[in-house]
Amino acid sequence: MAHVIKTQEDYLAVYKQSIENPETFWAGVAEGFTWKKKWDKVVEWNFNEAEAKWFTGGKLNITENCIDRHLATKANQTALIWEPNKPTDEARKITYQQLHDEVCKVGNMLKAHGVKKGDRVCIYMPMVPEAAYAILGCARIGAVHSVVFAGFSAGSLSDRINDSGCKIVLTTDGAYRGDKTINLKAIVDEALQRSPGVVKVIVSAHLQSKPAMQQGRDFSWEEEMSKVPAQCEAEEMDAEDLLFILYTSGSTGKPKGMVHTTAGYMVYTNYTFKTAFQYREGQVYWCTADVGWVTGHSYILYGPLSAGATSVMFEGIPSWPDWGRFWQAIERHKVNIFYTAPTAIRSLQQAPLSFIEKYDLSSLQVLGSVGEPINEEAWNWYNEHIGRNNCPIIDTWWQTETGGFMISPIANVTKLKPAFASFPLPGVQPAIMNEAGEELTGNNVEGRLTIKFPWPAMARTIYGDHQRFKDTYFSTFPGKYFTGDGSKRDDEGYYRITGRVDDIIIVSGHNLGTAEIENAINEHSSVVESAVVGYPHDIKGQAVYAFVICYEMPKEADKLRAEIKEMVSKIIGPIAKPDKIQFVSGLPKTRSGKIMRRILRKVAEGETSNLGDTTTLLDPNIVEEIKAGAIK
Ligand code: WT7
Repeated sequence: MAHVIKTQEDYLAVYKQSIENPETFWAGVAEGFTWKKKWDKVVEWNFNEAEAKWFTGGKLNITENCIDRHLATKANQTALIWEPNKPTDEARKITYQQLHDEVCKVGNMLKAHGVKKGDRVCIYMPMVPEAAYAILGCARIGAVHSVVFAGFSAGSLSDRINDSGCKIVLTTDGAYRGDKTINLKAIVDEALQRSPGVVKVIVSAHLQSKPAMQQGRDFSWEEEMSKVPAQCEAEEMDAEDLLFILYTSGSTGKPKGMVHTTAGYMVYTNYTFKTAFQYREGQVYWCTADVGWVTGHSYILYGPLSAGATSVMFEGIPSWPDWGRFWQAIERHKVNIFYTAPTAIRSLQQAPLSFIEKYDLSSLQVLGSVGEPINEEAWNWYNEHIGRNNCPIIDTWWQTETGGFMISPIANVTKLKPAFASFPLPGVQPAIMNEAGEELTGNNVEGRLTIKFPWPAMARTIYGDHQRFKDTYFSTFPGKYFTGDGSKRDDEGYYRITGRVDDIIIVSGHNLGTAEIENAINEHSSVVESAVVGYPHDIKGQAVYAFVICYEMPKEADKLRAEIKEMVSKIIGPIAKPDKIQFVSGLPKTRSGKIMRRILRKVAEGETSNLGDTTTLLDPNIVEEIKAGAIK
């Protein structure tokens, strides 16, 4: 086993091999899977055309690799542990055999409803086992899943359904969120008024709330599942056949449907899961993300399951019924690897330590972090109170677009530095660029983070819009993939991600495009124009600050603020609601009409003295007004 990494020297040797001879390296990794036919060529690529293909000619089905191949030895091992919203309800343990049967049934159910290979299926579900069956059931028959996070509004759901051309939606009647319930079926009904292409909806009765069902369109998941057998042959897929579409926010308006394909994604999520966490047989692993995000796709389902791990799916939230919820579940399921987001850590940090001390966390061996740069304070708290100074913190930098971890420490191998994602994983070739487009070689540099060689799980395109894919990711630095992030490389070669350098803000770990929020605000009939920026927030990491111009200065400002928040919540979802709204009579624009966001960012950050050069502004006086009215 040439790839085993036990020490930093091993890492360096494997890394060197992986970049000197990527084809040999990745062929070696790919050997370990079940192929219906081996690949002809490991990688073919041309970044000038934003193209990359992996394992071409290979034939496989990812569910055989995530499920069937484990059955000989692990049929009765738990594949998924489902921890329900309410801690007094019973957790469910789903074995690999049961997972196999449910996934096959979903495959058969979809076929019975006319779904064929290549069709897109929208999944709008909370964190229930059925969501996992739905995702893998699509993959079983070669249908392309498009999961939409169940916190998105009807409008966002409808946009995503229409963009990917889904004809069927899988959902539940509703979701629990702490002590609240959300009627998902009603949201789907509303979305479908604008999505006439959807002809079938299959609804799982999670809340047993008996929602209105439209005759001929809506079907009961439980009834349909009871009609089909638990055997479904895995469709033979080409290595480059689409596995899924997942939307992520863009700097301009519309969300981007990132396309991931089969073989490269499988090989990479498996390899990075095992490598970064140094996963060992028998460990219980818990990633607290939602399956509606890429973290849920890659590191609740595909990575861990393809590795034969036991993966925890948690329906609830960390604060309900109290702040001990995560720790209670870690004790209950003897979790060994725990992977969460800095925003969760920061909110948990606010609660008294007694919520932690009540529980036995001694099963923990490895901790992980993802979603945004983790600040040192949160890192230290996580290390001391959760890891008890005894668990490495694996700060994984990656993106929806990258499919899997890119820059990350390796558990018990990499010497850690708080707040540093540290080193590129094998096969990953980062390059830090300056604004002139030159690569900054050597250490002690800071600039924009790009990747100069393909990796197997990279997104292949934006669904239906390859030109946008090329423009967004491959044109800023020709020949390189541009991440949209800034990064430093310190004197020892460690990478530290400094945050987005584009118009995307990360609020509680969720990517939001400022343009998308502005468009939603502008829908309000009193609003002429708006500009949104992020500002630092103790718990959320970043929060949303909106500068809004109305037809006339509002008399009842708070009422209008509430209406605007409601508007954004309805159009995008509650996660995008502005935290602060300042009404202004104008925005700082240059003579060419471009908003100087730099100034707005400073005001939002509470900085009023040093705003830099404002001489190119059309009306420099507006800056004084904005400063004076800044919301603290
Ligand atoms: C953006 C991608 C990757 C899964 C979850 C988010 C930021 C993510 C880190 C990290 C610093 C991070 C970046 C990236 N980000 N992880 N460990 N350290 N920043 O996926 O929604 O596509 O967001 O999240 O800015 O570009 P995503």
